Amino acid sequence: MEGVILVTGSTGFIGSRTVDALVRQGVKVRVLLRPESAPALPDSGRPGVEECRAGYRDADALGRAVTGVSAIIHLAGVTKAVDEVGFFDGNVLPVENILKAARQHNPGLERFLLVSSLAAAGPASSSYPGVRESDMPNPVSAYGRSKLLGEEAALRHAGNIPVTIVRPPAVYGPGDRDILEFFGMMKKGYLVSPGSCKRQRFSMVHVDDLIEGMLLALRSEVAVGGTYFISAPRAYGWEEIIAAARPVLGFGRLLRISLPEPVVFGLGAVFGAAAGLTGKPALINRDKANELVQDYWVCCAEKADSELGFVARTTLTEGIAMTLQWYQRKGWL
Ligand SMILES: NC(=O)c1ccc[n+]([C@@H]2O[C@H](COP(=O)([O-])OP(=O)(O)OC[C@H]3O[C@@H](n4cnc5c(N)ncnc54)[C@H](OP(=O)(O)O)[C@@H]3O)[C@@H](O)[C@H]2O)c1
Repeated sequence: MEGVILVTGSTGFIGSRTVDALVRQGVKVRVLLRPESAPALPDSGRPGVEECRAGYRDADALGRAVTGVSAIIHLAGVTKAVDEVGFFDGNVLPVENILKAARQHNPGLERFLLVSSLAAAGPASSSYPGVRESDMPNPVSAYGRSKLLGEEAALRHAGNIPVTIVRPPAVYGPGDRDILEFFGMMKKGYLVSPGSCKRQRFSMVHVDDLIEGMLLALRSEVAVGGTYFISAPRAYGWEEIIAAARPVLGFGRLLRISLPEPVVFGLGAVFGAAAGLTGKPALINRDKANELVQDYWVCCAEKADSELGFVARTTLTEGIAMTLQWYQRKGWL
């Protein structure tokens, strides 16, 4: 695929790393920054990266942003919001409006790659083989429902623009702040986790592997109209995550506290009510609690392997070690 690629959400964890990967490949990149986005990319001024300001409700500015690009990687979105409206505004409306702009100003767009989430599909009923792309979606949170609506919006508003959807599970790597919280606890000698720490299994993907999978999907003709889980081939339990972190963080025996479901929902109710008063998204609310207590956030990565030739290269041990060392260098841990 020749030409400029427009990346949205470029100031975020996955977006900033995606821009770096594209620049390294010699691809010309345009980033869409919202009026309220961080002022510029951390390494702004890199050759090949052009910045363009556009709010997702500003049709003219969106038109300018999409004009002349060969593809769009849509990473912008929200994982935390006060209510369903906030999730809709972050995860659905931008998809609709950017595609409307593309149909009007760039009808020859070669590909629209939407980064959705395993949350759109919902959790699996067992740890193996995990949710498949062909399974009926069953999101269990407002976030998941909004990501599913975002997928549906992409297919509905694309017209003749070829769309591909990727659904990452939990993404970890340099720059991620979500999983950092758990490593911070481990370093202090304890781990509080919601739900059953014995049963829980998680599909995970290192951010660099995810980006490789996204770019394979972006450039594959087979992937037009397709949806793909981009994940490490198997799911992990807490014990494996702890074992991967131990040599880097050097902790001994951990004090393990599994919060039973009623406690997680109780905390969700309290923090959710507080968020309702402050207007700021809570770390946990009843809706988020429903995500956190699930046993099997597991997807099956076979389709991406067989159709795109994607295989995650990073082992959990390598990936966690690289991530923790990055946190340490940055003083985050
Ligand atoms: N991290 C994960 O584990 C994970 C797993 C599955 C799926 N995903 C999906 O991957 C995408 C990127 O995730 P991330 O972890 O990189 O998230 P992130 O660090 O929070 O970055 C998301 C970016 O979206 C933009 N954004 C923020 N609020 C917005 C709003 N209200 N409307 C539109 N755009 C907004 C911002 O970029 P600008 O300021 O540059 O616009 C922000 O930096 C998201 O769509 C997320 O749903 C993430």
